[in-house]
Amino acid sequence: MTAALLLGSSLISGAASGIGRATARAFARHGSPMIALLDKNETLLKTTVSNLRQEFPTTEFLPVSYDAGSESSTVKAIEKATSAFGQLRHAVNNAGYPGPLGPSTEISTGEFQQLLDVNLTGIWTAQREQIRHMLQQKPVSHEFSQDLGTIVNVSSMWGLAGTRSPPMAAYGASKYGIISITKSDANEYAKRGIRINAVCPGFIETPIMKLGGPGIDSIKEYGLNRTPMQRFGDPMEVANTIVFLSSPMATYISGTEVRVDG
Ligand SMILES: NC(=O)c1ccc[n+]([C@@H]2O[C@H](COP(=O)([O-])OP(=O)(O)OC[C@H]3O[C@@H](n4cnc5c(N)ncnc54)[C@H](O)[C@@H]3O)[C@@H](O)[C@H]2O)c1
Ligand SMILES: *[C@@H]1O[C@H](CO)[C@@H](O)[C@H](O)[C@H]1NC(C)=O
Ligand SMILES: *[C@@H]1O[C@H](CO)[C@@H](O)[C@H](O)[C@H]1NC(C)=O
Ligand SMILES: *[C@@H]1O[C@H](CO)[C@@H](O)[C@H](O)[C@H]1NC(C)=O
Repeated sequence: MTAALLLGSSLISGAASGIGRATARAFARHGSPMIALLDKNETLLKTTVSNLRQEFPTTEFLPVSYDAGSESSTVKAIEKATSAFGQLRHAVNNAGYPGPLGPSTEISTGEFQQLLDVNLTGIWTAQREQIRHMLQQKPVSHEFSQDLGTIVNVSSMWGLAGTRSPPMAAYGASKYGIISITKSDANEYAKRGIRINAVCPGFIETPIMKLGGPGIDSIKEYGLNRTPMQRFGDPMEVANTIVFLSSPMATYISGTEVRVDG
């Protein structure tokens, strides 16, 4: 019997699918009693939540539909979750999409802007609201620290390095930006007891990878070739890392980015 790692309520965005869905399962498995799942895909969100309720009958799951690209929708969604739970201990900002794939000369300003709206501004807005709520709640005492809450943002290995295949300048910029905001806010709020970290997944086998589209086979081949473990990651392997960073096992870790890339 192992002790639960996550004792407080949590909120996960982009939770209907892939890494977000695996993170909701991992949070339930490791003891979070109340979990809000935010996503724009209502149909898929319904299915995901009903599957989770079957698997974890004593955990409370709250589905919230919203659009990470809209500030008012994001503010409302976070307000809905925090008022339902009365507190927010762990937030995971994961909603995202790869955006326009192609070299910069073939991407329009509009496409670039749209991606930054969702992937960067959307994450920043969400984080700001989460921090506002966390600053108002009572700290929880751990062996070495007193914490108000934790935040993990999902970046990407493309937030750390450029890429030739697929060319994703806009996506890379948004993911690099997430790491930068994570570090700034982590510094700002460290003394108040809010820890903020980012994870950078490599090639993970999620629906994003199965979307198809031009060149997906060569992207996959490229991915396998540049992954020393010679396999794609499972979403649960990213989720487990997020659990660790959110848990009291990581009380002295903040403002860092952790690669989960095989
Ligand atoms: N799969 C990979 O190899 C990989 C690698 C590095 C980083 N990532 C990042 O991980 C995160 C999750 O990706 P995934 O592979 O699990 O994808 P996924 O498509 O399986 O899940 C993404 C979820 O986010 C939701 N979403 C997308 N845009 C949204 C919006 N505007 N508002 C609300 N919800 C929205 C989708 O409905 C979906 O349920 C993304 O930020 C992605 O960039 C993925
Ligand atoms: C919701 O998810 C399902 C399953 O992945 C997909 O078929 C559908 O197109 C998605 N709907 C929207 C609006 O994204
Ligand atoms: C990234 O941007 C795309 C395009 O706007 C969006 O669909 C996706 O949800 C964003 N990803 C995140 C993590 O916000
Ligand atoms: C990442 O985390 C920081 C700190 O919590 C937050 O301010 C920021 O909005 C987050 N970024 C995204 C994209 O979620």
